Amino acid sequence: MSTVHIIDHPLVQHKLTILRDKNTGPKDFRELVEEVSLLMAYEVTRDMPLEEVEVETPICKTVGKAISGKKIGVIPILRAGLGMVNGILRLIPTAKVGHIGLYRDPETLKPVEYYCKLPADVEERDLIVIDPMLATGGSACAAIKYLKERGAHNIKLMCLLAAPEGIQLIEREHPDVDIFTAAVDDRLNEIGYIVPGLGDAGDRLFGTK
Ligand code: PRP
Ligand code: URA
Repeated sequence: MSTVHIIDHPLVQHKLTILRDKNTGPKDFRELVEEVSLLMAYEVTRDMPLEEVEVETPICKTVGKAISGKKIGVIPILRAGLGMVNGILRLIPTAKVGHIGLYRDPETLKPVEYYCKLPADVEERDLIVIDPMLATGGSACAAIKYLKERGAHNIKLMCLLAAPEGIQLIEREHPDVDIFTAAVDDRLNEIGYIVPGLGDAGDRLFGTK
């Protein structure tokens, strides 16, 4: 069963409240999404394996720790996932980035795929799928299925806000995938938006409404 990790760090919660505020404009919204993503990435990567390495300080030789194991792939779901990429890359600059283009059909709420470009060695990487909103879960579920079909098997899902409906879908379809979110909101409304949520993440990031 997927584990749901709620990142309740005060800085994350404070910034999330500003993101929710309808008066926060695109410039601040973009900056805050990046900052929250960086802070959340710190928790998402907490279980990265370490190995001992020799290092020479200005004083003497010693043994330090360095990250070992598989390399990371960051997979934003377009468009809104793009807003989270830079925050994560600031922490993990060597990560490769793969893009999956999906939009939610406004009538059916089902994801429609329109673009995909992944790192060539995607099946060898530990992947973090990123999208600010986990609403019905259809988009994240489709992206994870797509990655698994290409051989990926160690996948985490990181979002800013999740609805119970989206969490249930991931738990059912991808029980091996842990979910990291800053909050679990109440429900979806009749047009599939998270309540209370923060509105349309893509439009607020890119100023398209
Ligand atoms: C939003 C959001 C997710 C999806 C979540 O994208 O960024 O990808 O909806 O909804 P779901 O869990 O019900 O699938 P949208 O389709 O609005 O596209 P955009 O990112 O291009 O704005
Ligand atoms: N996509 C968004 O951008 N916001 C929601 O609340 C749901 C889906």
